[in-house]
Amino acid sequence: MYAADNKPSPCRYVPCSKYVNDLEEDVCEGLLIPPRSLPPKYFYDETGSHLFDRICDTPEYYPTRTESALLQTHAAELISHTSPEHILEFGSGSSRKTRHLLHACEQQNITCEYLPFDVCEDMLHQVHTRFTDDYDWLDVKPLVGDYTAGLDHLQPQPGKCLYLFLGSSIGNFSVSEAQSFIAEIRQCMKPGDCLLLGVDRVKAPHILHAAYNDAEGVTRAFNLNVLNVLNKKLSADFDSRLFRHEAIYNTDQQRVEMYLVSEQNHCVQLASLGECIKFEKDEKILTEVSHKYTRDEAETLLTQSGLHILRHIEPDNAWFSLVLAGL
Ligand code: SAH
Ligand code: TRP
Repeated sequence: MYAADNKPSPCRYVPCSKYVNDLEEDVCEGLLIPPRSLPPKYFYDETGSHLFDRICDTPEYYPTRTESALLQTHAAELISHTSPEHILEFGSGSSRKTRHLLHACEQQNITCEYLPFDVCEDMLHQVHTRFTDDYDWLDVKPLVGDYTAGLDHLQPQPGKCLYLFLGSSIGNFSVSEAQSFIAEIRQCMKPGDCLLLGVDRVKAPHILHAAYNDAEGVTRAFNLNVLNVLNKKLSADFDSRLFRHEAIYNTDQQRVEMYLVSEQNHCVQLASLGECIKFEKDEKILTEVSHKYTRDEAETLLTQSGLHILRHIEPDNAWFSLVLAGL
């Protein structure tokens, strides 16, 4: 898409610093035999990223609205507290909520650069174009890469850096993976740097259930879209009409689990792998988990890596946490 404009891509590629499976390997390990699962990063092709943005606008999906309101209210104090020269955001997507922080920088005459880091290059191009237009003082330097592939090759930022990991994306890791990821971010940090983490909280199951089963069916479309991604990339023949979306809150595990469930016995061909998958009726593919944390657990995620809690911001209903931590 961007190449057609004949402009050099504004994106820099972050090389992997540890081994990660490619799609073929993930499919062979996760999908060919039960229990079937897929890593969530494959949701985010251009269509998936836009569907995710639409999820954020559904009335049931409270996390975006809640986190956005917290950011809006507290942006000035977060920025004056951290006075960043660089803002580096993991899994930035459309970066909508980050605008509150950039606005505060503008108000406080803090000229920083913004480094959105995402797997979805299309989205990064759009953010680059929009943010360069909207903030003439801002240097936007998109980073394309997989943040699960190690952060050793993230170039160190010379000045004070504010790291962001918003949207409760930390919940899409298991608790131990979340712990390791925070430890990797901690390794990138130098004195004066901060990490702002958005964490979704444990709450009444019916509220969580509604958030991942919106009435309009946007989450359903988002979940099913991963099958189109597999069809395109692996010349597979998944028929999305033969799967239904299911999202349940697993109280024991404290997490939402998202599945695609086969409606009938059927076979799917994966031409580029020379494999076929035999689905039985009601057999499930786990496509995403979204772990929920208590207030204390959210802080422990950070303190276990040796970080200190600087601020913990939550709304009156305690549905979401924004936790600022430093060395
Ligand atoms: N931060 C935004 C978007 C959250 S959706 C918000 O709060 O609304 C998750 C984002 O993370 C998507 O943009 C997706 O493309 C990106 N993402 C998911 N897995 C990733 C990975 N392994 N490496 C880099 N980016 C990833
Ligand atoms: N980080 C988001 C969350 O856990 C991701 C997400 C929201 C999501 N809705 C989804 C992922 C639906 C898959 C399907 O809330």
